[in-house]
Amino acid sequence: MKDNSGATHVSVLGREVVRYLQPVSGGIYVDGTLGLGGHARLVLEASAPGGRLIGLDWDEDALLLARRNLAGLQERIRTVRASYAELPDVLAAEGVGRINGLVLDLGVSSLQLDRGERGFSFRADAPLDMRMDIRQEVTAAHLLARLSREELADIFYNYGEERQARRIAAHIVGARMREPVKTTRQLADLVAAAIPRRFHPKKKHVATRVFQALRIAVNRELDNLVRILTDAPSLLVEGGRVCVITFHSLEDRIVKRQFADNRLYRVVTARPVVPGQDEVDANPRARSARLRVAERRVTG
Ligand SMILES: C[S@@+](CC[C@H](N)C(=O)[O-])C[C@H]1O[C@@H](n2cnc3c(N)ncnc32)[C@H](O)[C@@H]1O
Repeated sequence: MKDNSGATHVSVLGREVVRYLQPVSGGIYVDGTLGLGGHARLVLEASAPGGRLIGLDWDEDALLLARRNLAGLQERIRTVRASYAELPDVLAAEGVGRINGLVLDLGVSSLQLDRGERGFSFRADAPLDMRMDIRQEVTAAHLLARLSREELADIFYNYGEERQARRIAAHIVGARMREPVKTTRQLADLVAAAIPRRFHPKKKHVATRVFQALRIAVNRELDNLVRILTDAPSLLVEGGRVCVITFHSLEDRIVKRQFADNRLYRVVTARPVVPGQDEVDANPRARSARLRVAERRVTG
């Protein structure tokens, strides 16, 4: 599937999501992270002719492209600009009681990464934005300007698992007294300068963890995930399934714990499902993907 930029988008663990979700004609499914519509298409195809899908994304650019990519399936799909954390309200507004399944494919889309001006990547020099929903006020630059050294260090450590968090935070706070930190290049250079060369990772950019941490903080990604996984059992029919694809250990731990601790869930995947080598070779983004699936327990 092609997006506007000409980049090819491949849905991660697409076959596996369909296998576990078990879509049926007549079912109502939600894709909470519609992106470019790849998983949504697979679910709609597998639930033909009568399955319906409500697709949510809080990124306007993604929604526009998803609508175009799914043009042939219009009659069975509704697209809504909202956070998946607001799913109970979205379903109430759509007049939908219970759903048969929920898919979440977390993180940034290739579209967001490829559009340098969104500030998600250190590969392009751009304003430090990182908002997935541009209606939101707080950007990464705001956080870097306003938070204390301790708060920044906590973000880098907790959300980026960055061991040099304190050193980096101190360096940023020193630098912002001279000049505000407003661009991706500035931040990447500050992180590189804060960490002694011998501690620079060999296989990834030295600022990767800090960028991930800021993105999670700006978009409150972990809070949103806890919220939807807490709400999901009351939105699903008995036996309805939730499939979550994560891309880093923080998210995976949350999904695992939420599924295990909530007695309304029955865990379907005791271990996370990971992509095969063929998928990783074809789509390097899939490398760190993990799929976990749980089912709304039958309580009656
Ligand atoms: C990895 S992409 C999804 C790709 C999609 N599964 C596909 O096959 O095309 C993740 C998408 O989720 C969206 N997203 C992330 N957090 C969200 C949230 N809390 N609510 C709604 N959308 C969110 C992002 O804007 C992005 O478009």
